[in-house]
Amino acid sequence: MRIFLTGKNGQLGRCLQDVCLASKHDLISYGSDDLDISQTDQVLSVVTEVKPDIIVNAAAYTAVDKAEDEPDKAYAVNELGVENLAQAAQQLGIPVIHVSTDYVFDGDSVEPYKPSDPTAPQGVYGASKLAGEKRLAQVCTQYIVLRTAWVFSEYGNNFVKTMVRLANQRDSLSVVADQYGCPTYAGDLAQAILQLCDQYQQTGELAWGMHHYCGDLPTSWHGFARTIFAKAEQFGLIQTPPQLTAISSAQYPTSAKRPEYSVLDMATLTNLGVSGCHWLSALDKTLEILKKEVQ
Ligand SMILES: NC(=O)c1ccc[n+]([C@@H]2O[C@H](COP(=O)([O-])OP(=O)(O)OC[C@H]3O[C@@H](n4cnc5c(N)ncnc54)[C@H](OP(=O)(O)O)[C@@H]3O)[C@@H](O)[C@H]2O)c1
Repeated sequence: MRIFLTGKNGQLGRCLQDVCLASKHDLISYGSDDLDISQTDQVLSVVTEVKPDIIVNAAAYTAVDKAEDEPDKAYAVNELGVENLAQAAQQLGIPVIHVSTDYVFDGDSVEPYKPSDPTAPQGVYGASKLAGEKRLAQVCTQYIVLRTAWVFSEYGNNFVKTMVRLANQRDSLSVVADQYGCPTYAGDLAQAILQLCDQYQQTGELAWGMHHYCGDLPTSWHGFARTIFAKAEQFGLIQTPPQLTAISSAQYPTSAKRPEYSVLDMATLTNLGVSGCHWLSALDKTLEILKKEVQ
């Protein structure tokens, strides 16, 4: 099957290329230099020329705080870009698998968010991603949205890599302890997307609509940092873990407000047999790769 991938240079895009290497699928990948998804004519012409069987959109404007100052740029990629891909897919009669975020929720819940729960983004990034979800649903008959959260991997910029870097630069660190979510390994999410592509190839069908995909154990950023330090020390990536202090979101003001609680319920996917993400073992794998890179 021919898969059209956008966002090839991002965390998820790179993991998708890795998992597809071991598959029989023909993956055709684009970075923003090859294809700017906010350019309507360009998207239609490239997709029409390639004639894929499915589109996987891993491209996004992901600078959560910067988005507050440049909403036009965030919406151009996260809303218009998604609409452009959706229009092209609809013209070809093919489905779209699109990735969205836990930041579409306000974070006031006390139990894991279900895909059907009401949305109320707290910032421009979340609002622009929600707008993209809506465009996709309006334009496409066959689409999957996978909302995910707290993505980490050996690639790009993410919390795991930042914590390891800071641990080697500082004796003490303060990390927010009142925001809860589920770390998600981009490689596991990529594997789940590949499983969906396989299923579509075999049956011509998928459970169209909204789904959630995230790691299995909820934690706080502080708890996540503590685990990263302990494991990074075991892997020899840091000598001595810095002294870690738990602080509140109020003590660490950011341009964009984050949801306090954004644990996602991924039952609709596990019920379909899609593999989950055990983020502790995925963290080991990530740190092992990072260790090899510095050796
Ligand atoms: N990272 C997280 O913690 C997190 C959490 C929840 C949800 N998500 C969602 O998960 C998905 C994957 O995230 P990620 O962490 O892999 O993001 P990422 O590492 O920031 O990668 C996003 C990619 O999007 C591409 N892009 C940006 N603007 C573009 C444009 N106009 N046209 C084409 N490509 C463009 C960039 O391409 P170039 O590098 O080629 O410029 C970049 O490599 C996104 O939908 C994101 O919203 C992420």
